[in-house]
Amino acid sequence: MLFDSHAHLDDAKFNEDFEEVIEKITSSAIKTVVDVGADLESSKKAVELSEKYPFIYAAVGIHPCDADTTDIVFDEIKALATHKKVVAIGESGLDYYWDSVPRDVQKKSFIRHIELANELNLPLIVHDRDAHQDTFDILKEYKPKNAIIHCFSASKEMAKEFVKLGYYISFSGSVTFKNAKNLVEAVKVVPLDKLLIETDSPYLCPEPTRGKRNDPTKVEFTARKIAEILGLSYENVCELTYENAKRIYNL
Ligand code: NI
Repeated sequence: MLFDSHAHLDDAKFNEDFEEVIEKITSSAIKTVVDVGADLESSKKAVELSEKYPFIYAAVGIHPCDADTTDIVFDEIKALATHKKVVAIGESGLDYYWDSVPRDVQKKSFIRHIELANELNLPLIVHDRDAHQDTFDILKEYKPKNAIIHCFSASKEMAKEFVKLGYYISFSGSVTFKNAKNLVEAVKVVPLDKLLIETDSPYLCPEPTRGKRNDPTKVEFTARKIAEILGLSYENVCELTYENAKRIYNL
């Protein structure tokens, strides 16, 4: 049994063969997928998908690359978040790689997401790209009760700091890449009860098909790589990451 803790099945890259992708997932070992909203439209689609497919749950929020701090947007996100299959707020955070929105706006949006998550008692899905220190500082100051550092990309020292705050660390297919030395080291310092796996599909396809469109079934390759790094059986990694995802998403 596998749990893809972070996917974007609502992405337009799945439009053409959506039903085939669903069929592929349901006939695989993937039992649960959290579809994560990146803007208002995709958050609505995530909720729709969760209504239609029993194995899909939704997260709602605005990605830092589309950060928008207007009340209207947050009122809508809040309304969506009351749906019974919404299990998290996000993704939100900071993206200094694309830097497509001024950093002060990204920070304000991130803080509003933290406040909303805490108000609704939901975990927060955190996006951190090239913004590790600022992400950490905001989390430390505003203290989401529960959070997932999604698609972890920082150092092992940083992983330890996030874990000290009580948060979960989610590894994507990038841990399978040949240049992933730092990620391999980070995997080793995350307590087994804080470890999650994800695809972030359609992005970040793991080896051996890096560069192709990703989909939730490929979370298997991330699980296999983590098993190899930790010297655990594949089944053991599947089981513990499944239990961890169930716990953080309160399923
Ligand atoms: Ni994502």
